[in-house]
Amino acid sequence: MHNVKRLAVIGAGQMGGGIAQVAAVSGIDVTAFDAFPGATDKCKAVHQKSLSKLVEKQKLTQDVMDAALNRITFVTDLEALKGCDWVVEAIVEDAAVKKDLFKKLAALLPGDNVVLATNTSSISITEIATAAGPAAPRVVGMHFFNPVPLMALVEVIPGLATSPAVVERTIALATAMGKTPLKANDRAGFVSNRVLMPMINEAFYAWMEGVAEPEAIDGIMKLGCNFPMGPLRLADFIGLDTCVHIMNVLADGLNNDRYRACPLLKQLVTAGRLGDKSGRGVFDYTKK
Ligand SMILES: NC(=O)c1ccc[n+]([C@@H]2O[C@H](COP(=O)([O-])OP(=O)(O)OC[C@H]3O[C@@H](n4cnc5c(N)ncnc54)[C@H](O)[C@@H]3O)[C@@H](O)[C@H]2O)c1
Repeated sequence: MHNVKRLAVIGAGQMGGGIAQVAAVSGIDVTAFDAFPGATDKCKAVHQKSLSKLVEKQKLTQDVMDAALNRITFVTDLEALKGCDWVVEAIVEDAAVKKDLFKKLAALLPGDNVVLATNTSSISITEIATAAGPAAPRVVGMHFFNPVPLMALVEVIPGLATSPAVVERTIALATAMGKTPLKANDRAGFVSNRVLMPMINEAFYAWMEGVAEPEAIDGIMKLGCNFPMGPLRLADFIGLDTCVHIMNVLADGLNNDRYRACPLLKQLVTAGRLGDKSGRGVFDYTKK
């Protein structure tokens, strides 16, 4: 049993917003926090749109949608998370920023039974947990996939100090949220991004070196490998900034420069072309 009464979601972006929505639909009260102005309003609008679509498709009733929306409280002050008994952190993929947050969370939520989960795509759980000091046994990786309402998997990653009971409760919570939890060990990128992200990075190299244009690269991988989405389209969907962060973690964590982010991928990020979330990445979404 996970025993969660109030879940805190930290970072109300693509992933945090999705996690808050799925938790609320499964009957859990949620407090969603974001440090940046405007993020929570954007998240509310995404919830309205996403849940309305599910109602239209008759996957959800209007009553369930209304109840789910009522279960989510948005806050802009970290102190307002006091009283929550489970945290899922989904802020920027930056080790220093995450470690600073977990240090604060350990002090803010000192209860032995409060789990501090991170949705990091690649950063070492052990490293984040170490920043949480004595709270390290309560820190765990709980890696959801994008878009959270549609994707079945949650990768569950114990750090070196994570207690077995916390791992079991994480598996129970993911299951209660309608997801399929699978365990991976705490190595850079875990399983999903260790395998996926170098493939995406290679697609940028193929584009940069003129092997083919983006449409052809994606078309070849879709039709030839039966992928539902080409690697460049997927990179836009994930966020090109997040892709760069993950490649940095792989290169440093696996101590191998073959994982360095492709220069063209980095250049797009420098130009503010972050993918779907900024309207343009590899492809242009502003005309849709
Ligand atoms: N995008 C994906 O496909 C995907 C998939 C799985 C996991 N993840 C991981 O989830 C996390 C979030 O990714 P995302 O795609 O939702 O990013 P995002 O940019 O859409 O959202 C991040 C949110 O966190 C907020 N934020 C940033 N720093 C903060 C801080 N210090 N305190 C509070 N809020 C802060 C931002 O305002 C933003 O709303 C990252 O660790 C990422 O690696 C992403």
